[in-house]
Amino acid sequence: MENLRARFVDCRSDTVTRPTAAMLDAMLHAQVGDDVLGEDESVNALQSQAATLFGMEAALFCPTGTMCNQIGIKVHTQPGDEVICHELAHIYLFEGGGIAFHSGASVRLLSGNNGRFTAEQVRSSINRRDDSHLPFTRLVALENTVNKGGGACWDLEEIRRIRSVCDEQGLALHLDGARLFNALVARGEAPHQYGKLFDTISVCLSKGLGTPAGSLLLGSKSSIARAHRLRKVMGGGMRQAGYLAAAGSYALEHHVRRLQEDHAKAQTLGRELQRLSCVSEVLPVETNIVIARLAEGISTDDFLSKLSERGVRAGSMGAQLVRFVFHLDVADADMELLCQTVRRLH
Ligand SMILES: Cc1ncc(COP(=O)(O)O)c(C=O)c1O
Repeated sequence: MENLRARFVDCRSDTVTRPTAAMLDAMLHAQVGDDVLGEDESVNALQSQAATLFGMEAALFCPTGTMCNQIGIKVHTQPGDEVICHELAHIYLFEGGGIAFHSGASVRLLSGNNGRFTAEQVRSSINRRDDSHLPFTRLVALENTVNKGGGACWDLEEIRRIRSVCDEQGLALHLDGARLFNALVARGEAPHQYGKLFDTISVCLSKGLGTPAGSLLLGSKSSIARAHRLRKVMGGGMRQAGYLAAAGSYALEHHVRRLQEDHAKAQTLGRELQRLSCVSEVLPVETNIVIARLAEGISTDDFLSKLSERGVRAGSMGAQLVRFVFHLDVADADMELLCQTVRRLH
């Protein structure tokens, strides 16, 4: 493994990181207990730390972002309800059909600018309540940053407008904030601005923040009490999870501000990719993700294997789309190799 690590600049995802020595030290010294019995001090501390940070009543530590999102959706819906989300949403595309599987809900897909939509689109997608043929619109779900939108950030004003529509129409609002900290750093916003607007928020600690595992679902006391029960039903109750929670607390304190370094590296790569004739478009680079569309006739597999032969790994995001993601294991020194390698692709 060490050899692989030394040979590759791994930009496939921001989930490929290893804990730093300081994070491992925090994990080693964690106070732990049985979290299913509510006795793990480090888990309890992380949940309080996160709830305070977002100005929300409570938080629940879960193994994955997928579990947080799916529990969040189930907290707000009943079978036969409908969830409004973007056609690029992770909850729709990449969570194994979990909305249907766990919640028995249908989905109304909206299109729009790299994973974002408007309050007007939400308003016009809400089903009439007095027509029993129609699924009952119950929840709006946003993603920030948008993974498949090239790490695009939402405009806080648009979220406020969507919140108003939800309030008027009695809908809940969930945020898939797997990479919310990237958005906060890029836009100079604060977590409590989001805590005020959403009924539930999921955030991942295992992506740009660099922990080995773990995500948090935030919400009201009653939502999180229901979520606690659902986590058990889904088999997500963990025992001495405090070792992971300690990594999470460490990450919230030490790995948020540095995300701007990942964003700067993404900008540099974005500029390099734009110069290549084999690339027809680079989505606007706002955070740590760079998505490029390859020119007609260029094979994604060939592009990725040429990179890989030269020591750089990136991922495919569908036909003609490649994705590079920056994280704390892409060092400043790796940028030279990365840029040189990309330049040779033309
Ligand atoms: C936007 C988004 N939401 C949710 C998830 C799910 O997180 P996990 O892999 O921890 O289940 C991911 C994972 O990549 C993601 O990119």
